[in-house]
Amino acid sequence: MITHADQQKIWEEEHKNPYVLLPMDSNDESSGVSLFWDWLKSKGETKSLRGVEMGCGKGRNSIWLAKQGTNMRAFDFSSIAIDEAQKRAAIVGVENDVRFIVQDATKTWPFENESFDFAIDCFASTDIESTDGRSFARDEFLRVLKPGGYLLVYTLSTDDEFHKEMLEKSPAHEKNAFLHPTTGKFEKIFDRAELMNFYKKWKVVEEKRIAKVAKFFGEDYNCKHFWIIFQK
Ligand SMILES: C[S@@+](CC[C@H](N)C(=O)[O-])C[C@H]1O[C@@H](n2cnc3c(N)ncnc32)[C@H](O)[C@@H]1O
Repeated sequence: MITHADQQKIWEEEHKNPYVLLPMDSNDESSGVSLFWDWLKSKGETKSLRGVEMGCGKGRNSIWLAKQGTNMRAFDFSSIAIDEAQKRAAIVGVENDVRFIVQDATKTWPFENESFDFAIDCFASTDIESTDGRSFARDEFLRVLKPGGYLLVYTLSTDDEFHKEMLEKSPAHEKNAFLHPTTGKFEKIFDRAELMNFYKKWKVVEEKRIAKVAKFFGEDYNCKHFWIIFQK
C-alpha cells in the first residue's frame, strides 16, 4: 500500500520533471473550469466572488479565475508547484488576486468557516491515496463554503479508456484505484454511484459527462470524465 509520504514524493518529482500529466504543467485553464465559470455567469453570480482550489498544481485554473475578477486562495502539498504558481501569477500580474499556499488537503485548511462562494476540485481528490483523506478534504470543502456555495468536481471515471486499462494492469489496494505503472503514483477513479454516495450530503445542481481524447505515453485514449457541480 502506498504511503502518504510516498505519494507526496512522487508528486514533487512529477512537478519537477513533468512526465505523465503534461496538461497540468501548462498555463491554459482546464476546459472543465472554464465551463464551470460559464455556468456561474449564466446564474449572474460572478461579481467579486471568492474561490478556493484544492490541489492547484502550478496554478493554471486559479490564475485564470483571478483574471476573470475573482479572489482566489489555492493550495497544493507540493512546494515546487506552489513556487511555480506564484511566479506565474506575478508574470500575469494577478498576484494580488490569488494567494498560493503550501497545504496538505488532508490536514485542516487555514481558512475560516463559510468564507468562500465556490470551490474547485479539478482532478485533485483523485490523487488522494486514502478514503479517510478524501473524506476529510470533502468535509473541509463543506466547512469553508458559504451556505449555498458551489463545489466543482471534475474527475476521472471508470469509463475512461486509459484508466480502465490501468485498473486491469496495475490495480491498487482500493476498488477502482490503480498505481501508475512507471511512477507508482496512486489514482482513484470513480463510477457514478460511488460519487453520489460520497457526496450524499450535497445537492447536485448540474452534471455532465465530458468526452475528450487524452494522450498518455504518446497514444490517444477516449475519456468520459465526470463534471459535477454540488451545492452546499
Ligand atoms: C492531477 S493534478 C491537478 C492540478 C490542478 N488542479 C490542475 O488542474 O492543473 C493533482 C494535484 O493535486 C496535488 N495533490 C495531491 N494530493 C494532495 C494533497 N493531499 N494535498 C494537496 N495537494 C495534493 C498534486 O500535487 C497535484 O498538483
